[in-house]
Amino acid sequence: MFSLSDFEQFAQQSLSSDAWSYYSSGAGLQQTMKDNEAAFLRYRLRPRVLRDVSAADTRTSILGNTIDFPVCVGVTAMHKLAHDDGELATARGIVMNQITATKYKTCMVLGSFSTTAMEEVAEAGSPGLQWLQLYIFRDRELTRSLITQAERVGFKAIVLTVDQPVIGPDSYKSASLPPHISFPDIGLSGPINKEKVRNLIDSSVTWEEVDWVKGLTKLPVVLKGILTAEDAVEAVRHGVQGIIVSNHGGRQLDGVLASIDALGEVVRAVEGRVEVYMDGGVRRGTDVLKALAMGARAVFIGRPVLWGLAYKGQEGVGRVLEILREELKSAMVLSGVSRVTDIKAELLVH
Ligand code: FNR
Repeated sequence: MFSLSDFEQFAQQSLSSDAWSYYSSGAGLQQTMKDNEAAFLRYRLRPRVLRDVSAADTRTSILGNTIDFPVCVGVTAMHKLAHDDGELATARGIVMNQITATKYKTCMVLGSFSTTAMEEVAEAGSPGLQWLQLYIFRDRELTRSLITQAERVGFKAIVLTVDQPVIGPDSYKSASLPPHISFPDIGLSGPINKEKVRNLIDSSVTWEEVDWVKGLTKLPVVLKGILTAEDAVEAVRHGVQGIIVSNHGGRQLDGVLASIDALGEVVRAVEGRVEVYMDGGVRRGTDVLKALAMGARAVFIGRPVLWGLAYKGQEGVGRVLEILREELKSAMVLSGVSRVTDIKAELLVH
């Protein structure tokens, strides 16, 4: 397994067809899903030479917490569809470097639709950095209790998904989920009828609920799923601490910009007032370098983690991250940058 596409191929061959189609699909013509990856190829690099890169270092920080490299594990629902250990394997895979067996640290976003209890994931991921992804459920008490629980188990931020007022066309194909799938944090146990899940989410949500969430917690709030300067400015106005530029991996509205193409306008609009991250189509170290050159503080990966899980649980997740870390380091060295903060817009041409 030398590149993320090796993991993708393995996952395609080994997962059940239901699981593979749930993980791999995108909305509509899949124009946006495909473009998330293709768009990276339209940016080229302008490397600088003779800059002593002998001590290149991928470390950085997000919302004040140090991470060993700026590639984080984004939220994807239902890790137990990929591996029996589910989110526990993901959390463990992140904190362990599979080659040197040393511990390293990056961020994991756990989903509201986790198939493992938040408390167990927090323990398995220690001493890593974990954030909770939140939906505004029709049941506001449930929504509130997830926030309280995240605080209690030591999560460091709330990631509010704002591009999913309804679950998009790419939900699980069969009418009910496999019997071993349950959502302990939201009190749903298997076999779960898919419509039940759809009905949980409140599609009447507005910026008022962002204020509501901010009022409930002292944790920083990050909005996930912003694609325009207008919404980015609004997000800053409502006091959020971070924005994830994302089109949900091309699974919600087909035909929107690739995330890397939308990143620039969001970065310019927020003028450094909040941290901006991105997800969608990140598959190699040079993609990470390009996103950082565009102004992202860090990137998140979705599907590649599921491929890693399908390959070998925690070891697979660790390998996927390790490959991206090594590739990023190599891309930095060859571009003449030694520190993540030295990755600047001049590195990029469209
Ligand atoms: C997702 N994503 C997602 N996002 C979210 O906010 N809540 C969720 O429950 C999920 N679930 C989910 C399941 C699956 C199978 C996929 C592929 C994606 C979207 C995810 O966080 C992210 O935006 C994209 O996956 C990033 O794109 P890549 O890395 O998959 O190309």
